[in-house]
Amino acid sequence: MIRTDADPVTFVAPAVSLRGAVAVPGDKSISHRAVLIGSICEGETVVRGFGRSEDTESTVRAMRALGADIEDDGADTLRIRGVGLRGLRPPDGPIDCGNAGTLVRLVAGILAGQPWQQFELVGDESLSARPMGRIAEPLTQMGAGVETADGHLPLGIEGRPLHGIDYELPVASAQVKSCVLLAGLYADGETVVREPMPTRDHTERMLRAAGARLKTSPGRVAVQPAERLELGEVVVPGDISSAAPLILAATLLPGSELIVTGVGVNPTRTGFVDVLERMGARISVFNRRTVAGEPVADLEIAHAELVATEIEPAEVPRLVDELPLFVLAASMAHGDSRVRGAAELRAKETDRIAAVVTGLRSVGAHVTETKDGFRIRGVPTRPRGGRIGSEGDHRIAMLAAVCGLASRDGVQIEGAESVAISFPGFFDLLDSLAQR
Ligand code: S3P
Repeated sequence: MIRTDADPVTFVAPAVSLRGAVAVPGDKSISHRAVLIGSICEGETVVRGFGRSEDTESTVRAMRALGADIEDDGADTLRIRGVGLRGLRPPDGPIDCGNAGTLVRLVAGILAGQPWQQFELVGDESLSARPMGRIAEPLTQMGAGVETADGHLPLGIEGRPLHGIDYELPVASAQVKSCVLLAGLYADGETVVREPMPTRDHTERMLRAAGARLKTSPGRVAVQPAERLELGEVVVPGDISSAAPLILAATLLPGSELIVTGVGVNPTRTGFVDVLERMGARISVFNRRTVAGEPVADLEIAHAELVATEIEPAEVPRLVDELPLFVLAASMAHGDSRVRGAAELRAKETDRIAAVVTGLRSVGAHVTETKDGFRIRGVPTRPRGGRIGSEGDHRIAMLAAVCGLASRDGVQIEGAESVAISFPGFFDLLDSLAQR
């Protein structure tokens, strides 16, 4: 791999195989939640295995600005002295959420419950283009004062006494579900969220661990108003979304043998592993255990030939962030694949349907865009290689890197530094595993 940080283009050379044993950074979704919920707990919350990244640092900065005392204790431990459910105070200026959709949508639910306090949330260009009406609508129904700029940031929130609602999510979104559940802690009665398809349930698990009363049944979560929360300790598992590019690279490259230890295998997050296995991948999941209420395991991945598959709408939330990688896998499989019901990808850090198609076509893959997904013609040989623009999107930059390893000529990545949004050491780790 040839890299010069001064050069805006990063070149990822082809690799023969991927070999070694690694751990990946702490789960981003769980790390955000640990800081957000720890900040409204009583007493000290210790977060171990915190996944440090640009996104999660935005959450730490935001909660500090709102009054939580958050101390760094070594590389991946945080000590949070929470202010209690109603102790957050507006900082002098707006709260900058950077690139982090999870931060803005979840913190909005908490701020809605801080009576008569006014807050303003802003973000970077990408976050400012993402839909916020999806949280403004239920929070307004609950009684909060919410203003958006035509459904976008900046978001103005006035906390008010909230009412419990029974809310059916119009889109399958864990961020919107979590926003409503967090606001529900402050409501005057039960709050119910119904979801069309199961989405990640980290908020439910962590709130329960903190003492909140939640009832879950398929497609429905109900939360009761809370008096006080107390977490104590959160141990964050490795991020399966950060392991995913490594899992795919090891699957695609002959002779690969890769072990990834301590990865979160919450069933709402393991869709990518399940789909790859259906395509013929050789992935063993072993040492299963439960850590701080989340399932964790070690993974062993060996090279395998892949066959095409179809991804239906109901499966999408379980691998929503890994769909770009799936499209690369399918483009190197035997047969034609398809993804349906993934229109949500257009509302991510960038329009990921357009970005994946442009990027993979420019390296020689046969991928077509549909309104809500992809059609992929599999060609079970290495793609040619070429140049891929990340469009400032960390998941597209990681897709481009895997593509470089699996290509004939390598891939030049524009904007590769965006990997730091979720996985700052990504390129160094890849370098240490790639055999050339
Ligand atoms: C996340 C939920 C998903 C996912 C995002 C993280 C979360 O977003 O894409 O990366 O932490 O709740 P949506 O809820 O918008 O689908």
